[in-house]
Amino acid sequence: MTYFSKVFAGGKLGCRKTFISLVWYAAALPALAQQPLKTLLVGVDHRSVMSLNGDWHYLVDQPPARALYTPAGKVRDNSYALNTHPNINSGPHNDEYDFATAPTLKVPGDWNTQDPTLFRYEGVIWYQRDFDFQPRPNTRTFLHIGAANYKSFVWVNQKRICDHEGGFTPFDCEVTAALKPGTNFVVIAVDSTREVDGIPSVGIDWFNYGGLTRDISLVTLPTQFIDDYDVHLKHEGTFSPSNTNLTGYVHVVGATAGTPVTLRIPEAGVNTTLKTDAEGRAPFDIKASKLDLWSPETPKLYKVELASGEDKLTDDIGFRDIRVDGTRILLNGKAIFLQGANMHAEAPYRTGRAYSDEDVKNIFGFLKDLNANFVRLAHYPHDERMERTADREGIMIWSEIPLWQHISFEKPEVYAKATYMLNEMIRRDRNKASVILWSVSNETPNNPTRTEFLTNLANEARKLDPTRPITSALIGPHAKGNEMVQDDPLANALDVVGQNEYVGWYEGRPEDADNIKWTLPQKPILISEFGAEAKQGVHGGKDERWAEEQQVNVYEHQFVMISKIPQVRGLVPWVLMDFRSPTRNIPKLQDGFNRKGLISEDGKKKLAFTQFQKVYKDHSVGKAE
Ligand code: GCU
Repeated sequence: MTYFSKVFAGGKLGCRKTFISLVWYAAALPALAQQPLKTLLVGVDHRSVMSLNGDWHYLVDQPPARALYTPAGKVRDNSYALNTHPNINSGPHNDEYDFATAPTLKVPGDWNTQDPTLFRYEGVIWYQRDFDFQPRPNTRTFLHIGAANYKSFVWVNQKRICDHEGGFTPFDCEVTAALKPGTNFVVIAVDSTREVDGIPSVGIDWFNYGGLTRDISLVTLPTQFIDDYDVHLKHEGTFSPSNTNLTGYVHVVGATAGTPVTLRIPEAGVNTTLKTDAEGRAPFDIKASKLDLWSPETPKLYKVELASGEDKLTDDIGFRDIRVDGTRILLNGKAIFLQGANMHAEAPYRTGRAYSDEDVKNIFGFLKDLNANFVRLAHYPHDERMERTADREGIMIWSEIPLWQHISFEKPEVYAKATYMLNEMIRRDRNKASVILWSVSNETPNNPTRTEFLTNLANEARKLDPTRPITSALIGPHAKGNEMVQDDPLANALDVVGQNEYVGWYEGRPEDADNIKWTLPQKPILISEFGAEAKQGVHGGKDERWAEEQQVNVYEHQFVMISKIPQVRGLVPWVLMDFRSPTRNIPKLQDGFNRKGLISEDGKKKLAFTQFQKVYKDHSVGKAE
């Protein structure tokens, strides 16, 4: 059965479990209903916008008088959000702050690596900047925030605009009514505090960089505008190389039924006019005259021109077919083997949250040098530049929302949050050919509550996007002597199973791997994490911990073990580059970094990098079928 027939056959739950799921899921609805997906503009990076990047003044939250939260936990609107200025020489002493003369932080960018006094600060920072604006009639203006970790509260000209929770996905807030001609100001309070019911929760193995960590801009649109679209190669029952059918939809805000929408893909011979339905949505199912399919070897992108009324935008979209067939992953009908690495959004050389063209260029330089065709963007959506670059350079992506290890799976409001983040991730990147897998979680505890939660979420992802396989990284196979058995029921809800394992580092000695026999689901398996720590520049014997030679030895034995698992379809070592993690504190060896990288945080390659470079060049470990 192909991947689709499995999914449309109602997955693996069966009727009893489906009933329980529906009851459970219904419990989450009220919380979901509280969070309709606010406007989320697709393709902002392909629109002309007014950038608000640059220097923003900042103040560290000062409990209790003016703190963001009242003692009752409510958000104060009459605090620093008012952006008043003290009268130094006279008048009442009640505005003892002044953004205009306060120090500044660069936006985008985490605050931790910009100001040493803020390195370990986890809490609320208030950002403020002025900007000039001239409102135009018959337009709507949105504040676009690429990401802000973790909670954000936005005011413009003293008016409360929007709140957002989630540190790695974009959001758009309408500011039209708050703007005035001339000088305006925006105040954003960002709270980086980790919360038990957050996503992720509190015990993460990466640095909790806080702040306005990605691009910010003002997007001014006609009152009738395109906010969402999906343009993809139609997934028929089986793949046919002659398939040139394109399908999807364009959604137009402010459009009544019958509003025309033009869709042009000149290079593919597409030039058609669609009509919106009563909800402003214009579905389409058209035939291109010819299509060169996207792949790592030929990462072909097409100019896709969308227009409705006064609004138009042109995106760069690749068309390809990705599906599972038995234990194989098929790209454009051909079985593939994924040779990649995990990567945190850590900026090479400078550390801190990665966000810039420079950061992304450095990361892709490493991936290309590694002979990689794949990257797992752990453990959260990275900057959109990563997908754009992967589209251009032909690197396939595993994209993931940060349901990392221990999450409050028993709480419907957490399910609502997870669904919201899933929507934001898929909405932003569904038109990116490089994204071949959506992942719903990493290493979550195997218990019925979590399995129901993530099974529902996986099925939610399929409803949102039936064109991509769904995955998750599992941990906890149980050992029976030399056998490792992975029988986590969550695998039933997945199309591709990620298996994290650390034989030779956390589990046993490296040579134990030679004799381990795995029992894994009969689905495509990615070894989604494996590896060992090594301090770059430390050399010694193959059994000397922290030596680069030791890291190589762990992988040598791992390759022997993995080569015996017939359904493995990808290698994803943990991790491409050393990254900051406050839980890694062995002096002179870790010093606040997780050292499982193939490269150090300052770009120095370890012996294991060369080892993978050769394995990937020779395709000597693993088979596509
Ligand atoms: C886990 C986890 C990673 C973590 C890694 C490690 O598998 O998924 O986020 O950094 O192990 O322990 O280094």
